[in-house]
Amino acid sequence: MSAALKIDQFSLMDDRECDARITAAKAILGKRLAILGHHYQRNEVFKHADFTGDSLKLSQLAADSDAEFIVFCGVHFMAEVADVLTFGQRSVILPDLAAGCSMADMANLVKVRKCWDEISTLLDPDEHVTPVTYINSAADLKAFCGSHGGIVCTSSNARAVLEWSFARREKVLFFPDQHLGRNTGLKMGIPLDQMVTWDFMKPRGGLTDEQIKNARMILWKGFCSVHQMFQPAHIDNFRKAQPNGLVISHPENAYEVCQKSDFVGSTEYILRTVRASEPGTHWLIGTELNLVNRLADEMKPRGVTVQFMSPTVCMCSTMFRTDPQHLAWCLDNLVAGNVVNRIRVPEAVAEPARKALNLMLEVVD
Ligand code: 13P
Ligand code: SF4
Repeated sequence: MSAALKIDQFSLMDDRECDARITAAKAILGKRLAILGHHYQRNEVFKHADFTGDSLKLSQLAADSDAEFIVFCGVHFMAEVADVLTFGQRSVILPDLAAGCSMADMANLVKVRKCWDEISTLLDPDEHVTPVTYINSAADLKAFCGSHGGIVCTSSNARAVLEWSFARREKVLFFPDQHLGRNTGLKMGIPLDQMVTWDFMKPRGGLTDEQIKNARMILWKGFCSVHQMFQPAHIDNFRKAQPNGLVISHPENAYEVCQKSDFVGSTEYILRTVRASEPGTHWLIGTELNLVNRLADEMKPRGVTVQFMSPTVCMCSTMFRTDPQHLAWCLDNLVAGNVVNRIRVPEAVAEPARKALNLMLEVVD
């Protein structure tokens, strides 16, 4: 081991030099290293990933990995999940520690506990309410779910997880993404007026006692800053220009956008569906720009066109933080024997979080 290399030595390096360093480091580290890349990563990073996927697939890959080092090109909660599922036995590395998720930050343990306490003035939540957290949340919220008979979900298994939850208790508290909760609840036939929105900035969520008692789903008022850019009018305009075109959206989109879409599903589902389409199909896609641009390039030779839903550029700025410079920096450090930016979840949090994550993995198995 030598002294850790500093990020400053890499920050001004051009992408080509970073590419060469990344390739050389991967060759040296071999099977000791696994680079995981979420579909929203920029091309310059995505191309170096050994495994790519949506949040569910990457969690499963991390759980099954026997690599000594897992470099997670994604965001903070994903690296936490990888650490929890590998019992801290692997070094899980997030190349840039500032790669968070603004939606995940919209819920925290203090506010969720306050919500739980406020609900408990009306009914016993541990008997009547299953807490369900979207995987886009901090580890201590997953631990909260694990400690209260709850579970985790991703955008690809939300329906199965909600069915599991309702089989146990009659209500669900769903956080932090109101849209995934609402869109999934609607698909299951739950009417809109039985899904109330918990405004975490207001006392008792801004709801009356009656609203809380009558609700089947209590939806945390969180949202994704990227997907909120997509509007129903974008779909109307596309349909005018392409009457036979197809629209596919991620369930983090608002209810009004999902209702107007032909297909709704996770990033992995979007890729699978568009790749399976016939030549001559025109697609409008409501999810992050890096995925859409890559898919558009991939489909071009097959005569399938892919269009981004918003007329303005909207990338996930935190996913974008992982650049070749940070990736080269952490890999060169591994070669030199230094583990930098390791993500560790304390075992007191990891244990109940693991319980909620494993329940999810069992539900989708
Ligand atoms: P999926 O990749 O699970 O569809 O989720 C998208 C997302 O927002 C990741 O943060
Ligand atoms: Fe979070 Fe939205 Fe970015 Fe996904 S796309 S990481 S939900 S901010």
